[in-house]
Amino acid sequence: MSIRNLEDVSDRNLALELVRVTEAAALAASRWIGRGKKNEADGAAVEAMRKAFDTVAIDGTVVIGEGEMDEAPMLYIGEKVGMGGPAMDIAVDPLEGTSITAKGGQNSITTVALAEKGNFLHAPDIYMDKLAVGGGLPEGVVSLDASVAENLKNLALAKKIDISEIMVCMLDRERHAELIAKCREAGARITLIGDGDVAGVNAVSQPETGIDIYMGSGGAPEGILSAAALRCIGGQMQGRLLFEDDSQIERARTMGITDPNRIYTITEMAKGDVMFAATGVTGGPMLRGVLRHATGAVTHSIVMRSKSGTVRYVEARHNFITKTWSPD
Ligand code: FBP
Repeated sequence: MSIRNLEDVSDRNLALELVRVTEAAALAASRWIGRGKKNEADGAAVEAMRKAFDTVAIDGTVVIGEGEMDEAPMLYIGEKVGMGGPAMDIAVDPLEGTSITAKGGQNSITTVALAEKGNFLHAPDIYMDKLAVGGGLPEGVVSLDASVAENLKNLALAKKIDISEIMVCMLDRERHAELIAKCREAGARITLIGDGDVAGVNAVSQPETGIDIYMGSGGAPEGILSAAALRCIGGQMQGRLLFEDDSQIERARTMGITDPNRIYTITEMAKGDVMFAATGVTGGPMLRGVLRHATGAVTHSIVMRSKSGTVRYVEARHNFITKTWSPD
């Protein structure tokens, strides 16, 4: 692709700057892999990510973050980050998969997404029902309004495969018992993941994972990050917020959500030009994890922009001795 204008150049540079932010968080979190301390792992990622934002040329506002200002010391909703530049909204999950990291399991990542002001749905920290499929399929092939059997049948038809070939991915949770039964009844296979549904949703757009469709509920903030990622890599996604009581509905209303039953399309969750970056902390099908050695570490990241559709994998060798970067 040729460079079209200055705005394009700065967009491209910004996308690469984002990788530094997720790398910093992953390097910091990697010191806590397998130590059974998820809060410490999360805290290290948050602190490193917050610090790394100081060198990014944006006037950023966190809209999906670590919680409200009184709940989170850093990267809270409304916090300003960046060294100045274009006004952007930021969605972060500094450590997606805190328990995975604590247990040394698979698929924990650090993630950041960027959009122009007002372009991310301000999702409260509640559950969201999610449905996602990869790119190249007819628009609306699956829907949260349709039954599980209907969605699986339509997806199989569109992919020209038998339902028995379809692999569904969802979180391994008690609340999914009925959904699991319906998928199996329809004839599909299921990959149950312990945690980390941003990687789970992303898997639908990575043919090498063998995942055809993502279903089930998980965190709404993770839903927005997943939508941002799919906007870049290609795919369809719908989300419906799952409110547990009136106070959650009221809280959402103050964030601009007026219809609690609404099904959000992918572009309603992440509009306009979007950038997404993630770095692996522990390895999985999406990304390899941080490899630490005596003098440094190796990280693997993905960075993508919806504008160009480019998906870039970045392998970085960090040298702690020359102090090009240190997580300590
Ligand atoms: P954390 O990194 O905050 O622990 O989130 C992990 C995660 O699995 C998310 O990927 C997912 O959206 C959410 O938790 C699901 O929540 P629950 O564990 O309550 O089902």
